[in-house]
Amino acid sequence: MKVVFASCGRLPLGDGDEESLVAALQRDGVDVEWQPWGGEVEADLVVLRTTWDYPDHLDEFLAWCAGVPMLANPLPVVRWNIDKSYMAELAARGVPVVPTAVVRPGEEPVFPDGEFVVKPAVGAGSRGAGRFTGHAEARAHLEALGVTALVQPYQSSVDAHGETALVFFAGDYSHSFHKGPMLAQGLAEAESGLYVEERLAGIEPTTRQVALAEQVLDVAAELLSLRRSDFLYARVDVVEGPDGEPLLLELELTEPSLGFKLTTGEAVSRFSKVIQEAASRG
Ligand SMILES: Nc1ncnc2c1ncn2[C@@H]1O[C@H](COP(=O)(O)OP(=O)(O)O)[C@@H](O)[C@H]1O
Ligand SMILES: [Mg+2]
Repeated sequence: MKVVFASCGRLPLGDGDEESLVAALQRDGVDVEWQPWGGEVEADLVVLRTTWDYPDHLDEFLAWCAGVPMLANPLPVVRWNIDKSYMAELAARGVPVVPTAVVRPGEEPVFPDGEFVVKPAVGAGSRGAGRFTGHAEARAHLEALGVTALVQPYQSSVDAHGETALVFFAGDYSHSFHKGPMLAQGLAEAESGLYVEERLAGIEPTTRQVALAEQVLDVAAELLSLRRSDFLYARVDVVEGPDGEPLLLELELTEPSLGFKLTTGEAVSRFSKVIQEAASRG
């Protein structure tokens, strides 16, 4: 059984978070190989991992995804999830999300009162995300991006509490971790050029956060005519809204960091198991 973990030229062997996962798969006799996306792949399953340079090569990346055998998550999931405009679709289905306006190039933006965020609809690693109060600056940023962008009120709870990432494997809750605030005033600085360094820690979610994450996954599955268990991996990032209730900030079904270094070996075993089940169907 062969499993390929897809990476990119800048991080060909991943960022280190999957070391224990690779070891667990190898202990079970699985042939695991890291491979930067873009080339020929032969495998029973291809799992998207640190493919984080795709926002600059979107068409090429999706064409490659369409050509590989047995992609996880499946291609229709990736196509839908790679563009954060899905936030508006989830909101329309009643999911409590951070209020999100989608602004296409050339469209006149309507900015929320107070502080707000402008970020590319297709983006990873906080690149291109900026926090603004001034409309002129925000407009200049939209123009510089030159792509479809999201405008959201800045959730000030993030400064105090950051966000909670809830990880699911094959639709079942596994573990959670905490991420500190990423945006200072103005534009986020990606020192590596690929992603802004994150401050992470393990955390126990509240029952309301878990319930929201489950609702998000159920609605996403319904929109895609899939079952929740068809999401081999999922990360639901939630923040605290102005009334203290959790809101969805991001649903990551494409290439999320899964925080294995921040949790127990049980999470590794759970993912190893669902990977092997998926690969044996491949
Ligand atoms: N509306 C918002 N309010 C507060 N912080 C935000 C908001 N949108 C984004 N951020 C900050 O920017 C980071 C990156 O944004 P996110 O939507 O998660 O995109 P990605 O992680 O795919 O780059 C978040 O982790 C969060 O710290
Ligand atoms: Mg994020």
